[in-house]
Amino acid sequence: MSDTSIQDLVRVDEGLISRKIFVDPDIYRAELENIFAKCWLYLAHESQLPNPGDYTTNYMGEDPVLIWRGMDGEIRAFLNSCRHRGMRICRTDVGNARQFACPFHGWTYGSNGELKTVPSFDDSYFGDLNLAEWGLHEVPRLANYGGFIFGNWDEDAGSLDDYLGNARWYLDVVIERAIGGLEVFPGGQRYSVDGNWKIASENFVGDGYHIAQSHGSAFTLPARPLNPANPFSSYRGTLTYYDIGLDNGHGFSQATLAGERIEVDRMEAKELGPEVVEYVEECYARLVKLSQAHADFYAWTFGTLFPNFSINNFSALRPIGLMLWTPKGPGRLEVWQWGATDKDAPKILKDRVRQDLIRNQASVGILAQDDTENFEQVTASTAGVIAQRLDFNYQMTLDRKPVEGLDQFPGFISTYNSEENQRRYYRRYAELMGGGEGAQQVYAGPKLAARG
Ligand code: FES
Ligand SMILES: [Fe+2]
Repeated sequence: MSDTSIQDLVRVDEGLISRKIFVDPDIYRAELENIFAKCWLYLAHESQLPNPGDYTTNYMGEDPVLIWRGMDGEIRAFLNSCRHRGMRICRTDVGNARQFACPFHGWTYGSNGELKTVPSFDDSYFGDLNLAEWGLHEVPRLANYGGFIFGNWDEDAGSLDDYLGNARWYLDVVIERAIGGLEVFPGGQRYSVDGNWKIASENFVGDGYHIAQSHGSAFTLPARPLNPANPFSSYRGTLTYYDIGLDNGHGFSQATLAGERIEVDRMEAKELGPEVVEYVEECYARLVKLSQAHADFYAWTFGTLFPNFSINNFSALRPIGLMLWTPKGPGRLEVWQWGATDKDAPKILKDRVRQDLIRNQASVGILAQDDTENFEQVTASTAGVIAQRLDFNYQMTLDRKPVEGLDQFPGFISTYNSEENQRRYYRRYAELMGGGEGAQQVYAGPKLAARG
């Protein structure tokens, strides 16, 4: 993929993007090289690995990885592929193990990745194999931001803090608001979608525009809405929404910035009893300690960290949704998703949060099914020879400046609806696909302490 061709296909300044990038197998292969082997990718939350030996699995691009807390307490990640002849050494999603014996011929690896033993070392190898050279292939860079563990295949990549940039300011809201720390529910969900991974990622980076049309039926149901401050809710009052475009292609959407969401939570909490009222006030107080702007923001609804990690954060009374749009070819993705809540949230809330997740953004949920239909049909109706000659349109708010008077909030603040976040997402995409360093913008705001 040369510089010229990707710039021809992704013409962000005109708000035009060729449909080829969602279909072409060569472009897809280049994405695995230039994006998934270069960017920081979300792997797991540390609450999933509390004890020595705990492990979970995931993918980085199309490479399967094993995330494993060693018996020494350290979390590492490895390519989940035996060094002998490539068999997947761990074939379950989660568990606890001191070691893994490869199911094919039995090479056995310790929790620090070392190759400990091979069957018939004396009789078959005559002792002639240097075990020290054949340990599991380790993901060279691993970093943790507030419990969110990311890996990077690129040894020379910049730090995770720099990669997240000013998105950290907003991530701090969900991390610091959590009483007892965030806790991912046991058991993730997984489902296949016949769609290109970017269609899903860009939907979550800033597509509030689809909500009224695509999810309209959900708002007519006599059920508690997932987003308590949604534009159709009886609480909506005079909510003003914004989109927030961030460094390095990240973005959050449907944010309120004047403290409206805490007021909605306060109203709902009263219906749930004094324990929940106290909980909401404690959440709010924790954010005020960060800054009044963090407290006024309170929640962002949905967003994507480039390239393929999306997070729902509706309120302190709703589930935190973690979604990975895992690429499986130009026309197929696997959704890997988890729900989380505060470890020390009142039980009544934890129960509600599970219900909300299942009812809405889970594989059987109303909203996820609406979205999946869009992701699949967009990809299918884009693959034909005639469709491939056309561009997608990202021209909404193309020439608009950021909203003024909101300098306390980092990033490019857009009116809602907007396609600014999608353009920023694809600008970063084009930079990486073109091979350039691009705008590796680094936010170094004084409120952000470095996290280990
Ligand atoms: S492939 Fe693992 S021991 Fe042969
Ligand atoms: Fe949606």
